[in-house]
Amino acid sequence: MTIRELCESFDINGKYVNCLELGTGNINSTYLVKYVRDDVERQFILQRINKNVFKEPEKVMDNIVRVTNYVREKVEQCKLSTKKLVMRAFLSKADGKPFVIDDNGEYWRCYRFIPNSITYDTVTDLSIVEGAGTAFGRFQNYLHGFDAQSLYTTIPDFHNTSVRYQAFEKAIKDDPLSRVKRVENEIEKLMSFKQKACLLQDYLDKGELPIRVTHNDTKCNNVSFDKDTGEALAVLDLDTVMPGAVAHDFGDAIRFIANSLIEDDTDVENVSLVIEKYEAFTKGFITQVKQSLTELEKATMNLGVFAMTVELAVRFLTDYLLGDTYFKTKHPGHNVDRARNQIALAEDVLRKSARLDEIIKKYY
Ligand SMILES: Nc1ncnc2c1ncn2[C@@H]1O[C@H](COP(=O)(O)OP(=O)(O)O)[C@@H](O)[C@H]1O
Ligand SMILES: [Mg+2]
Repeated sequence: MTIRELCESFDINGKYVNCLELGTGNINSTYLVKYVRDDVERQFILQRINKNVFKEPEKVMDNIVRVTNYVREKVEQCKLSTKKLVMRAFLSKADGKPFVIDDNGEYWRCYRFIPNSITYDTVTDLSIVEGAGTAFGRFQNYLHGFDAQSLYTTIPDFHNTSVRYQAFEKAIKDDPLSRVKRVENEIEKLMSFKQKACLLQDYLDKGELPIRVTHNDTKCNNVSFDKDTGEALAVLDLDTVMPGAVAHDFGDAIRFIANSLIEDDTDVENVSLVIEKYEAFTKGFITQVKQSLTELEKATMNLGVFAMTVELAVRFLTDYLLGDTYFKTKHPGHNVDRARNQIALAEDVLRKSARLDEIIKKYY
């Protein structure tokens, strides 16, 4: 099937004009599609779902449709623009499902392009960082009241730090490629972080933290911004929407957005948590969610930053020990570089913890 045929299988009005593959995003294949209706141009996103990552695309789409329908109702109640603030998946003309399966068994979906929007792969502008916080916080807030447990867990134990550590310890024990001896310092550090890093999961397991709808991929390029006004619009990329802890989303976002260097920079001496970025994101996020947080959620938000950073370091190093099969690597030792970078960030989070607690309290 051609891109045009795929588009025409969805229930959208107008005439197909052309399409352009977008280079951004690193999971799915994404196309920007132009249509015209009554002489007005309309834009859509056509995406092929990556079946290697998402083994059950139908469940992924079921989660997305239910979550976006819920958010849309909330946005309507607030008399705000649903076109700008929430993704909309179109249905197949043939069977009303939110996807179309092509001749090769690949799953495709079609979203409305958020009008006049742009995304940023990296951000330096603090107002954009704050906007990302606002968008993810608002998403969380609109979903307050949604039964998170009713969502499919499309990737089991995604943020279960204890399970991630179990896999790590098994990899150390098995040591199939005799790589343990090259990363003994890193292993030692990560083991020293274990108890603290797993605390969030312990609270979840004991039922002390509420299960929330979490986005689970809170990168800045998953938020759309108005091209002209810079206003934060809809949260995108809802593939990993699942039950989780609110601190998972907050922590993972900070880990990504407030690192002074990129995730695999080897200049670990200069890896640090940029306080200004931390504060900007926190301001946006916490302002949106504070009303609905429990006391324990408030108290563990920064623990989430530490836990998400350590968890990722554990995953990078596990992948290294097992032969670099999960994360795409560009050179030998790439996963070690990434793990070292995250370890350095986690250490800085610990050093700055009193300061971070002080800042977050300002916004509660
Ligand atoms: N509905 C949408 N409106 C505007 N831009 C979009 C939309 N969906 C995706 N995009 C653009 O495509 C990029 C990749 O899409 P995304 O769903 O994030 O895929 P991936 O899972 O590969 O990251 C986004 O970062 C954004 O720039
Ligand atoms: Mg994305």
